[in-house]
Amino acid sequence: MRIAVIGVGHVGLVSAAAFARWGHDVVGLDDDAAKVATLRDGRAWFHEPGLQELLDEVVAAGRLTFTGDPTEAIPGAAAVFACVGTPPNEDGSPNLAYLEAVARTVAEHATGDVVLVEKSTVPASTGRRLEQVIVREQARLGSTHRIEVASNPEFLREGSAVEDTLHPDRIVYGTSSDAARDVLRAVYAPVVAADGCPVVETDVATSELIKHASNAFLATRISFINAVARICEQVGADVQVVADGMGHDPRIGRAFLSAGLGYGGSCFPKDVDAFAHLARAVGVPFRLLDEVRAINVAQRDHVLDKLRQELWHLDGKTVTLLGAAFKPGTDDLREAPAVHLARALLAVGARVRAFDPVAHVAIAAEVPGVEPHDDVHAALHEAHAAVVCTEWDEVVALSPEDYLRALAYPIVIDGRNAHDPAPMLAAGVRYHSVGRAAAPREVG
Ligand SMILES: NC(=O)c1ccc[n+]([C@@H]2O[C@H](COP(=O)([O-])OP(=O)(O)OC[C@H]3O[C@@H](n4cnc5c(N)ncnc54)[C@H](O)[C@@H]3O)[C@@H](O)[C@H]2O)c1
Repeated sequence: MRIAVIGVGHVGLVSAAAFARWGHDVVGLDDDAAKVATLRDGRAWFHEPGLQELLDEVVAAGRLTFTGDPTEAIPGAAAVFACVGTPPNEDGSPNLAYLEAVARTVAEHATGDVVLVEKSTVPASTGRRLEQVIVREQARLGSTHRIEVASNPEFLREGSAVEDTLHPDRIVYGTSSDAARDVLRAVYAPVVAADGCPVVETDVATSELIKHASNAFLATRISFINAVARICEQVGADVQVVADGMGHDPRIGRAFLSAGLGYGGSCFPKDVDAFAHLARAVGVPFRLLDEVRAINVAQRDHVLDKLRQELWHLDGKTVTLLGAAFKPGTDDLREAPAVHLARALLAVGARVRAFDPVAHVAIAAEVPGVEPHDDVHAALHEAHAAVVCTEWDEVVALSPEDYLRALAYPIVIDGRNAHDPAPMLAAGVRYHSVGRAAAPREVG
């Protein structure tokens, strides 16, 4: 099948490469000329484990090409996957303008019947709006091809995106005709046959809602355990053991019950806000989600409180952020807690260093004033405190002696519970983690 993928970013590029691996003939279209040039050069434009190897394979096989020109991508495609961004507006609603632009482009360039598939994360009812856009554009252009809108949300996780896409835990698509459903079936037939993953076939609005409900639920679990962690700190309990104890219940499970700095990334923060916004718009306010968001923001503020508790005032102090990316395995900084912390620390006059094996340059560009480091020991040297923001291997491997040797004051705020508290405290590190009973004694 010939497939066009519009927007070759974190979702689009990985999806395009997977479609090509499954034997389809794929063209990736992006309006960012620099990204297209990098991809045509044979290089992925962002870091993702296994992506470069997969690209090498499918590009060499001649099944994936890239272009900035819609006339090279859309004509002849049976399915066009829209994978453009849906970033948040000020009011929490998602900006769907990029998606609308895709619908207009498809209406203009389709040379036959085609299914326009929303892979971007969108609020329920977006499909209907896209259909209106297409009908109007086609009327203006005098085009009569049948363009149907389908929904096929993406569940990949950055850091394991290639693995998640090649071996999905489920495939969900929503269509409004048998013809569109058959196109989606044909797209995924190779992976369903090979992997036997469950397939949910439904209508467009239900499919759209599955994605928002899934992300909102996962974010809720994270905020839930973070709220429990705060209580643990007050009553001297250990949140990791609490989570283990809860997780043995098969109705609960252990996943997404790790207390820490809170969720970040390009999806959870914006998708929680977008779902809350949609709920308000349809007259069913989902206040639980407002609280999920508030707890998440409070986790970052809590780190600043712990730093102040140790360092008194932060003006003139040097703080090293260990990890910049929102999670290990990616160089994505969108909504990364480290970015929020860096801005907050610089605003109160602290000097901020950031270690990250792949995103050090990016955080210095994103937050002017941050000193980038790709060597964890150099990043710690003579700093007044370290904050663990991302559990990269290099960070997890740091020993109490490493901290004691490098830091000016041996203060470590572990925002990811990456270290074992007992050896840290025994060695004399002023070690604070999230929701775990052991904490350093008062100074003096
Ligand atoms: N990143 C994730 O982990 C993830 C997971 C699941 C779902 N999603 C959703 O997928 C969507 C895309 O996210 P992403 O992280 O891949 O974004 P991204 O910013 O990495 O990629 C979007 C790409 O679209 C391109 N683009 C924008 N407008 C265009 C247009 N009109 N024509 C052609 N190209 C255009 C951009 O240049 C960019 O390369 C979002 O809705 C997101 O919520 C993301």
